[in-house]
Amino acid sequence: MKTLSETQEAALTAAHSAGADMEAIRWVYSPLRICLLGAHVDHQGGDVLGTAIDRRILLAFSPSPDAQVALCSRDYEGRVCFSADAPPAELSPAWGRYAAGAAVALNRRRPLARGIQGGIAGEAPVGGLSSSAAVGVAYLLALEHANALEVTPEENIELDRIIENEYIGLKNGILDQSMILLSRKGALTAMNCRSGEYTHIPPGNDLPEFRLAVVHSGIEQALVSTGYNRRVAECQEAARLLLEASGQPPRERPVLGDVSPELFAEYGHRLPADLAKRARHFFTEQERTSEGRAAWAAGDLRRLGALIAASGESSITNYECGTPALIDLVRILNGVPGVYGARFSGAGFRGACFALAAPDAGPAIEEALQREFNPRHPELAGRWHLDLCRPDEGARVL
Ligand code: GLA
Repeated sequence: MKTLSETQEAALTAAHSAGADMEAIRWVYSPLRICLLGAHVDHQGGDVLGTAIDRRILLAFSPSPDAQVALCSRDYEGRVCFSADAPPAELSPAWGRYAAGAAVALNRRRPLARGIQGGIAGEAPVGGLSSSAAVGVAYLLALEHANALEVTPEENIELDRIIENEYIGLKNGILDQSMILLSRKGALTAMNCRSGEYTHIPPGNDLPEFRLAVVHSGIEQALVSTGYNRRVAECQEAARLLLEASGQPPRERPVLGDVSPELFAEYGHRLPADLAKRARHFFTEQERTSEGRAAWAAGDLRRLGALIAASGESSITNYECGTPALIDLVRILNGVPGVYGARFSGAGFRGACFALAAPDAGPAIEEALQREFNPRHPELAGRWHLDLCRPDEGARVL
């Protein structure tokens, strides 16, 4: 018999505390994601390139006989209780808001008759790998299973958008849940966030083995309380000004994806300096993403890595995100032998950085961080953690 992992055990213990029927346990495996290219362009309708990884959020659950939802977590205190057919607008403990948001989103389509009793645990620390989207997707899939609902990945992308944008209030794009829901092992997923069109890109022949080396910084903070939403608003203002300068009629919610590169080249100089930088990040990141697709399809990890490193620098200098510690982390990683390229893994305001790296790059990365990072950030010296991950399948119910 296969032994359970520590995370599986923890999810089962939490499910037991929530009152789940332990004879009827089902699992949702909801992976975390890495966005190789396409940083901060999803909320502007841009192109992204990414994958799910082999680190997951695990939800052990049993369908409730009625509409009651009861949840416990390994990592957060308190028991979450609400009725799936009448989820509350506010919830305590706050970690349960992703479950309530999932019920709110699903109820808009079909009233939920059944809740779930479950326990949740993650295989990686919070921050930078979109654990919030993985959690949202996990609750959606579990509630859909309990209510025997057939929902396509595309619909679930939209349902998770409702959780994040409308229930939680983070004005993010659809990158995270799309990678979590659509990924296929071995391929990268390329998506246009305006149309929702996506393709799976197989790697070129002779692709060298690689790892997605994740460095968890030890900094945790909810994204909604960072400068994330402010940057989104700046991008929208840049789009509005560019469209206005070219004489186009006003749009209700302009995004940089509405603006052609030619239009930016012609009118970009009229933007205030900070907005011009945000737009420059968008348009150069679009070019990098398109080149990155080609590099992957050609099996050229060196080229792909160089684009990832350039994306990291543009996030720092043009998009101006990242805390001093994360900026140092990215720049140190980009100098390590065996690292093809590194950048912030998520929004850059907290959490993790990742590097596209050779499979044996781990010791050199750790050594460089001990030598260069620890003396500059002693408060994080014992807290950062390196994890060598691989691409993996998207979310599933087992
Ligand atoms: C976070 C958001 C995503 C995306 C990235 C940056 O992960 O949730 O929507 O904007 O940051 O690319």
